[in-house]
Amino acid sequence: MTDFITPEERATFEREGYLIKPNFLSAQECADLRKEILNLIETKLDLATHPGTAFTTGDGQTSDAYFLNSGDKIAFFFEKGAIGPDGKLTVSKENGINKIGHALHILSEPFRKATSRPELKALARGIGMKDPRVLQSMAILKPPRLGGEVVPHQDSTFLFTDPPSAIGVWIPLEDCTTENGCLWFWPRSHHDHPISKRMVRDPSKVGTIFIETGEKEGPAPRDSDWVPVEVKAGDIVLIHGSSVHKSEHNHSDKTRYAYTFHMIEGGLPYPKNNWLQNSDGSEFTPLFEM
Ligand code: FE2
Repeated sequence: MTDFITPEERATFEREGYLIKPNFLSAQECADLRKEILNLIETKLDLATHPGTAFTTGDGQTSDAYFLNSGDKIAFFFEKGAIGPDGKLTVSKENGINKIGHALHILSEPFRKATSRPELKALARGIGMKDPRVLQSMAILKPPRLGGEVVPHQDSTFLFTDPPSAIGVWIPLEDCTTENGCLWFWPRSHHDHPISKRMVRDPSKVGTIFIETGEKEGPAPRDSDWVPVEVKAGDIVLIHGSSVHKSEHNHSDKTRYAYTFHMIEGGLPYPKNNWLQNSDGSEFTPLFEM
């Protein structure tokens, strides 16, 4: 397969910083992946040993050994508010989980199969990637009522290469609307927002910090800069690593399941202090060999 993405689509992606490719997964494939999410929660989440890690993005990020070690595992991160002061869940397990990550593309067969589809290899090739490496794959649950906002960010902040090369592949497994917390983009923001900081492992303790890259910070968004990107289950949202995007709180009674993974260019330096590392120090999965 060579032409999953047309030259016009590539031009749109490069101009806007994101691209929607409709109708990638069928309704049945989305249902199967949602089923796998519930299966992982049922079979891999042990509440008795779980450290009760709540995950939020931004400078106040909860980071501990469980998070730092999750790059090549299946780990579960709860929403703030899902765990009460007594340490017990305030909702059912599946309605309290923010996300499951960060190696579904290796450790879950249904997600491995979805990630290795020829269309996605053609997509990577079509946007000019030479040796895409897959990392940070996650199921994002955004549960009803509790699903928190994701503050404006750029994915290369978290998956820095020199120069930045991260690309996000975001696949809704359910229809996403402004009601249940769809993505919002600041179109064309990648042109004037270089990666000015990056999230690294804190050298002084178990945790993460943000350090400056030396690049100038881009302008702050105004309300009018944001565009909601409502998509159907099975579409692809392709995200440029410097594109400023966010999602809002899920105020609805609906879930908003999505699968996302990232790619970086294999030939570029990936700093050893980036938060995400394979625990044995090995390289990230070459997409073209999956
Ligand atoms: Fe993101």
